[in-house]
Amino acid sequence: TPDSWLPRDSRLIRLTGVHPFNVEAPLSDLYNEGFLTSPELFYVRNHGPVPQVRDEDIPDWEFTVEGLVERPITIKLKELMSEYEQITCPVTLVCAGNRRKEQNVVRKTKGFSWGAAGVSNALWTGVAMGEVLKRAGLKRGAKYICMEGADKLPNGYYGTSVKLNWALDPNRGMMLAYKQNGEMLRPDHGKPLRCIIPGQIGGRSVKWLKRLIVTAAPSDNWYHIYDNRVLPTTVSPEESANNQAWWMDERYAIYDLSTNSATAYPAHEEQLCLVGAPETYKVQGYAYGGGGRRVTRVEITLDKGKTWKLANIDYPEDKYRDAGPVMLYGGKLDMEWRESSFSWCFWNLNIAVDELKDASDILVRAMDESMNVQPRDMYWSVLGMMNNPWFRVTIAKEG
Ligand code: MTE
Repeated sequence: TPDSWLPRDSRLIRLTGVHPFNVEAPLSDLYNEGFLTSPELFYVRNHGPVPQVRDEDIPDWEFTVEGLVERPITIKLKELMSEYEQITCPVTLVCAGNRRKEQNVVRKTKGFSWGAAGVSNALWTGVAMGEVLKRAGLKRGAKYICMEGADKLPNGYYGTSVKLNWALDPNRGMMLAYKQNGEMLRPDHGKPLRCIIPGQIGGRSVKWLKRLIVTAAPSDNWYHIYDNRVLPTTVSPEESANNQAWWMDERYAIYDLSTNSATAYPAHEEQLCLVGAPETYKVQGYAYGGGGRRVTRVEITLDKGKTWKLANIDYPEDKYRDAGPVMLYGGKLDMEWRESSFSWCFWNLNIAVDELKDASDILVRAMDESMNVQPRDMYWSVLGMMNNPWFRVTIAKEG
């Protein structure tokens, strides 16, 4: 296969056969790593073959800034690394297909079955997108920033766009990154250069970046139009194939992540031995919000939503922030955007074993600071994206 030159971690679960490489870690392994995910277990979503870049060619990797700009420029990576302010920030990436498996069970979508580990967090180092755009100078009418990668796919290079004002807003944290957890990017994650768009679906964070194009309209790239959309639930796979108009409507493109959470312990269908166990069991998992909004509460129900329990929330980045710049994985955490939260959080709750014994499942939901709360019911759509109903694990009991 085209990627056979690339070593990969054997713990990763392959979701689309041998090629292209689409993987998630077992949820418990991902969760056990804590705040920062290692590059080895970081989920991968590749549409095609990974561009091969030799280490000695990294400094001369070029990308362009073109379109509605005063001065179209070509920037070498070595220039990006030396002539601009370098920033490091933790950002959680989430594939819009995270948790799609639950949708495919209800009704087959066009996408493959992600579990709940299509999410990972890392410390990214690079340059604020706004700084690069300022150097090129924006022309009147500029409204979108299109990004294009180097991976050649059946429908052209992978590309997409986001609103230009997001790219210019430092509170949105958009950056061009070349390091992950303090080391140069690995091939699967965009070596040598990628976009990082905090709070938005991973599909906007273009890897192997070659072109930035400032435009008046959203990207016309095939992958921008036919991927990363939530069409109305009434649109069937057949209807979506027969009527192009559904895809052409930019209203259905998705950007900010939806509020989401999942339980890592217990695992789904895990058999809990509650006889002779300690008096409480610690239920725990992760949660994230969209658009840099924080998760403000996580709630658990053992009776399908009649009554709720409030879980404890831990935002590890707060600890690091209070400690000042700290070294993590060899990377210096140097938060630029103190009012926003671009990373996941963890939650836990000790539940009396006596109570768990009577329950058949555990459901969890998170809410963000704008009170966006996970819905009880699933919203099915043809691509199976943004799935975020209350996360359910069933408990099998022993004894
Ligand atoms: N960029 C390019 N050039 N090609 C791709 O296939 N996949 C996108 C995005 N950027 C993709 C890309 C999708 S859908 C996601 S979810 C993220 O990259 C995944 O990033 P990761 O593989 O580093 O986790």
